[in-house]
Amino acid sequence: MTTIFGLSGSLRRGSFNAGLLRAAAELAPASAAIKVGSIRDVPLYNADEEAAHGIPQAVQALKASLRAADGLLLVTPEYNNGIPGVFKNAIDWMSRPASDIAGLFGGKPVAILGASPGGFGTVLSQNDWLPVLRTLGTRHWFAGRLLVAHAGSLFDQEGDLIDEGIRERLRAFIAGFVDFIEGR
Ligand code: FNR
Repeated sequence: MTTIFGLSGSLRRGSFNAGLLRAAAELAPASAAIKVGSIRDVPLYNADEEAAHGIPQAVQALKASLRAADGLLLVTPEYNNGIPGVFKNAIDWMSRPASDIAGLFGGKPVAILGASPGGFGTVLSQNDWLPVLRTLGTRHWFAGRLLVAHAGSLFDQEGDLIDEGIRERLRAFIAGFVDFIEGR
């Protein structure tokens, strides 16, 4: 079984991006399972805290889930044409200590997707992740692209994806990422 660790970069109840991740987990092909993680309990990064107390429990749990997974799925919102701070903060924490980066992120297959109510569907925040992931040494899946625009009409009040067309594109996106991980 191919395992993918999925993170959404929103803390919002009814988040489009959290809903997109839940739908991805539902639509994964039979050979794969997406484990949905949460950045909710990750504190703000503070080097003094790290020096005094080490890596927080919530961050250790995220690192363990990523270590156990064959791939990483980042479902990113876009704030001010870039990565939302809470999401970047979580990945920054997961990159500590730096001596763990190569073992944890190095060569790890990564795919990015995202949803926003605007017309561009997080294209700029998806781009914004690229230098971060290059720094961490991940192996990016570039063949698929999913920019979910006008999200307000595609998700319900709970943030569940209700648009059949996007569900089908999401199914194909995840299947393509799984093929990449499995070497096809
Ligand atoms: C936004 N939003 C937004 N959307 C977008 O497509 N491009 C952008 O640059 C921004 N900028 C932005 C800044 C800030 C501070 C906020 C709070 C919001 C709108 C954003 O896409 C919307 O709030 C989504 O609903 C966020 O994703 P979740 O929480 O639904 O997953």
